[in-house]
Amino acid sequence: MPRVLSGIQPSGQLHLGNYCGAIRQFLDLQAQGHEMFVFVASYHALTSTRDPVALRANIRQIVVDYLAFGLDPDKTAIYVQHDVPEVTELAWLLSCVCPTSLMDKAVSYKDKLAKGFTANIGLYTYPILQAADILAPRADIVPVGKDQVQHIEITRDLAGRFNSEFSTDVFSLPAHRLAPDAEVLPGIDGEKMSKSYGNTIDPFMDEKPLRKRIMSIKTDSRQVNEVKDPETCAVFRIFRAIAGTRDPRTLELAAKYLDPSRQGPDGFGYGHAKQSLFELVLSVFAEPRARRAGLMADQGYIDQVLAQGAGKARAAARITVDQARRAVGL
Ligand code: TRP
Repeated sequence: MPRVLSGIQPSGQLHLGNYCGAIRQFLDLQAQGHEMFVFVASYHALTSTRDPVALRANIRQIVVDYLAFGLDPDKTAIYVQHDVPEVTELAWLLSCVCPTSLMDKAVSYKDKLAKGFTANIGLYTYPILQAADILAPRADIVPVGKDQVQHIEITRDLAGRFNSEFSTDVFSLPAHRLAPDAEVLPGIDGEKMSKSYGNTIDPFMDEKPLRKRIMSIKTDSRQVNEVKDPETCAVFRIFRAIAGTRDPRTLELAAKYLDPSRQGPDGFGYGHAKQSLFELVLSVFAEPRARRAGLMADQGYIDQVLAQGAGKARAAARITVDQARRAVGL
């Protein structure tokens, strides 16, 4: 069975975009019986965070959310990046075969500078650390969102360079995996759902603010008595991303948008669509929502999960790093 690895930066509350792009894939792959490594990218967050209190809380929160969504610590090694020092050790070895031109080509670095991030060396070499995350436990498949594909390509490039420069076969080349019907999930303003745009929907919100958030999704000005276009509507697109393209609930909702017989004062309006989305979120995330409160209250259990996960990840990474050291002459 191929090995699966992925991670998420602890930059704040996980949202529906993380769920559709990454977490749902983790759950599917876990259910298929893969050997899984899922971690919290704490060192990556440090390339841009300067708030220790928030960082510490965000790291715990992601672990709780992983468990609440249904990652099972007996099937998936769940760990925090900085608990596996082998990763940073490997990052150094990889950085010595990484031409600066390869980092200059990374679009995420340029994007972040454009967004006002400070240019620091950690941000610049971010993809090398990510390559080490992936190569240390020898992952074969890396489930990610579209924005991470270039980072997996860089990982393959570095693995190949290391192998050829040191005439070794320490590393095998991993492949990325995109969510089967991956499309850009819109946020409440219709732009790509992203923490940095402040337009996310958090499936763990209390019911009242959650409903309010969903009711605030921007729509066009078509009235209840007008036919509407589901394809251009953020409410519909979020609904479809969560329920699935061919799910009967999705087809039924699309039909309501398009049905001319629903014209008139009792027709179908965006308020109805939003109510359907609200109910969908409550039903799809019923179990994670119920599990989360208990997990938050049991920090001892979280510690235990992380210790177990780090143990598995370190054991796998140590073998690789020792081989890599030998290959370079150390
Ligand atoms: N760069 C990823 C993101 O921002 C997080 C990440 C770090 C990651 N290391 C990884 C993802 C290794 C997959 C594999 O989403």
